[in-house]
Amino acid sequence: MTLASAPGDAILETQALTARYGHVRVLAPTDIRVRTGELVAILGPNGAGKSTLLRAILGLTSTTGQVMFQGKPLPRGDAVAVSARGVVLVPEGRGIFGPMTVEENLQLGAYRLGRDKPEFERRLARVLELFPRLGERRAQLAGSMSGGEQQMLAIGRALMGDPKILLLDEPSLGLAPRITAEIFEKLATLRDEGLPILLVEQKAPAALKMATRVYVLSLGRIAASLDADQITSHEDLAQYYFT
Ligand SMILES: Nc1ncnc2c1ncn2[C@@H]1O[C@H](COP(=O)(O)OP(=O)(O)O)[C@@H](O)[C@H]1O
Ligand SMILES: [Mg+2]
Repeated sequence: MTLASAPGDAILETQALTARYGHVRVLAPTDIRVRTGELVAILGPNGAGKSTLLRAILGLTSTTGQVMFQGKPLPRGDAVAVSARGVVLVPEGRGIFGPMTVEENLQLGAYRLGRDKPEFERRLARVLELFPRLGERRAQLAGSMSGGEQQMLAIGRALMGDPKILLLDEPSLGLAPRITAEIFEKLATLRDEGLPILLVEQKAPAALKMATRVYVLSLGRIAASLDADQITSHEDLAQYYFT
């Protein structure tokens, strides 16, 4: 008998998860699942509730329902406890510290590590291997880098915390298609290395290229759940976007 989860087991699962702002419910009861080995994309137009869903998973908004992670409920309203479980969000707008250097931002991502220098160096080497440009710019102020480089730094910083699952909120926002493609390729690499990823995106074509599965979120509810290879054209998705 082994306790390790077999490939394909659900690692993250929302169970009738809802969210509200004040009296307004913006997320209907939602059941989504990310399995080991998956890169799941949540697609939907502006205002559909994508960021709210991620915040609800982290327990940062007023919610009902439950989020199971590795078979156990995730705590609600306790961001530190959630990140200690290995659930890490790269937020919309990246959330990096502009007046600090690249290296200082990466150090912040590993703050829970304490003084374990060898482990820190191991994580840093992995991040710099994935994003060599961050290595070239270690001493540069984060705020002076391009949008694409800042996004790489935001992902790199999240990886310094050694996440068990990575949640990303519109990493392509404001980036040129070529840079978006480069970043998404790195996400696919991470997925192939065994890191499950839940990605929220408005830009469907870029996300579809590397997603294994797709949920379409429309007006605060899941309108469709599709295997990425079922989607052959933009029209397949558009029907859900506008209903
Ligand atoms: N802090 C907030 N207070 C009140 N309403 C909000 C807040 N944040 C988002 N909303 C509303 O919730 C809905 C979903 O927003 P959001 O999750 O940001 O969508 P998306 O990320 O898909 O663009 C929208 O109608 C938005 O106006
Ligand atoms: Mg959003």
